[in-house]
Amino acid sequence: MKNIVILISGGGSNMAAIVRAAQRDDWRRRHDAQVVAVISNRADAGGLAFARSQDIATEVVDHKAFASRELFDEALARAIDAHRPALVVLAGFMRILTPAFVARYAGRLLNIHPSLLPAFPGLHTHQRAIEAGCKFAGATVHQVTSDLDHGPILEQAVVPILAGDSADRLAERVLTQEHLIYPRAIAALLPTLPGASHAS
Ligand code: GAR
Repeated sequence: MKNIVILISGGGSNMAAIVRAAQRDDWRRRHDAQVVAVISNRADAGGLAFARSQDIATEVVDHKAFASRELFDEALARAIDAHRPALVVLAGFMRILTPAFVARYAGRLLNIHPSLLPAFPGLHTHQRAIEAGCKFAGATVHQVTSDLDHGPILEQAVVPILAGDSADRLAERVLTQEHLIYPRAIAALLPTLPGASHAS
């Protein structure tokens, strides 16, 4: 069995899309993989309730309880490793991770970013794309490296920017595409990953 651990900070709609995808028959036929835990750095993350409703283990590791980024990441890694993950998925997880954390999960740590990387790393991607006069925006699923919002690209979705678009309206349309490409990227990567008995 390949265990998937998902990290969230907020509403968790990408996490829910991945959980739903993993529950489908075609996924279960193809992959011996399941979402075993959802971990948040915020106790008020909306997605935790959905995870609990699906009988998925949840845990909060509050970054504010730690004196440094390193100590938070160490506690986070302990919480993750208890689930022996083949894959760790950042889904709206809004903390910058230390190089040691990223190295620990090298090759099995994914992120989704709401822009067509390498354009617009960082925050406020939709507003920045609109202000730059871009005709297209989108989302990117990528392997995480210690370089923020960089790393090998696995999937992208392109969304047109319409006349008069607001950042919120654009974000909503991009998010719909995120829900399609994230499960697809994970399904494509899973066969290349060792199962739990090999993962540490
Ligand atoms: C998504 O749009 C995701 O791409 C973005 O946060 C949103 C989370 O939504 N992630 C980042 O900006 C990471 N830098 P969700 O909680 O509903 O999945």
